[in-house]
Amino acid sequence: MRIAVVGGTGLLGSLVVRELESRGHDVRVLGRHVREFPVDLTTGSGLDDALVGCEVVVDASNSQSKARETLVDGCRRLLEAAHAAGVGQYVGISIVGCDAVPMPYYRVKVEQERVIEDGPVPWSIVRATQFHEFVDSLLSQATRRHVLPLLKVPVQTVAVAEVAALMADVAEAPPTGATTSIAGPRREQLDDLTRAWRDKDSRWAVPLRLRVPGKLGRALRAGGLTTAAPDASGRQTFHEWLAAR
Ligand SMILES: NC(=O)c1ccc[n+]([C@@H]2O[C@H](COP(=O)([O-])OP(=O)(O)OC[C@H]3O[C@@H](n4cnc5c(N)ncnc54)[C@H](OP(=O)(O)O)[C@@H]3O)[C@@H](O)[C@H]2O)c1
Repeated sequence: MRIAVVGGTGLLGSLVVRELESRGHDVRVLGRHVREFPVDLTTGSGLDDALVGCEVVVDASNSQSKARETLVDGCRRLLEAAHAAGVGQYVGISIVGCDAVPMPYYRVKVEQERVIEDGPVPWSIVRATQFHEFVDSLLSQATRRHVLPLLKVPVQTVAVAEVAALMADVAEAPPTGATTSIAGPRREQLDDLTRAWRDKDSRWAVPLRLRVPGKLGRALRAGGLTTAAPDASGRQTFHEWLAAR
């Protein structure tokens, strides 16, 4: 199949591209900084040409600084262009618990899900828990400022490669009009993962115990980022991922 991967240069998208190519698909990498099929979701530029002849579009785009413009308005533009190009399925990525944990970025992800569900292209959505790699990147940023944030919050992190493999499975199957969830194999406390991460590379940073207040804190502590019954379970634990890194 010819499959376009928007955000195909990102953390998740690049592994989706690799996975689909290894399965023999003709994959087009779309993003703002690629030579062959440059697209910009915030303006719609390049989308019409990039999607010609594609049967499926996988959307692995992301933006923290322009989240709504990219993930909501951009998704709407992408779906319109995909519809015009006759694309048969849109595969989106969202986050386990985004509707239960009141964070601005998660509200954007819920809005993005609504745009997909109400859009003109048959769809499937994968909801994943936080990637091991995401925790690594957050902690790396914090320790550059010599701080080790310790949060007692249940998480169920998953290897991004396992999420990418599920997205490839979903892209190969007919659209479901439903959400499929994937979570890591263990429910663990984020502060335990944080200490393991620090010990692995003997990083020096001042431990800072944090407690998130209010509704957000309650939702996090109640396990809003985890799920007891995911549709798919990742196999690699955070500790295994750390050891293999
Ligand atoms: N991180 C997690 O733990 C986690 C967990 C569950 C779900 N997710 C979801 O997974 C998705 C991908 O996350 P990620 O961490 O892999 O993101 P990422 O590494 O930041 O990659 C984002 C991709 O989007 C592209 N992009 C950004 N702005 C764009 C624009 N205006 N037009 C076109 N492409 C654009 C980027 O390429 P250019 O900048 O070159 O354009 C890049 O290829 C997100 O939707 C996120 O919500 C993440």
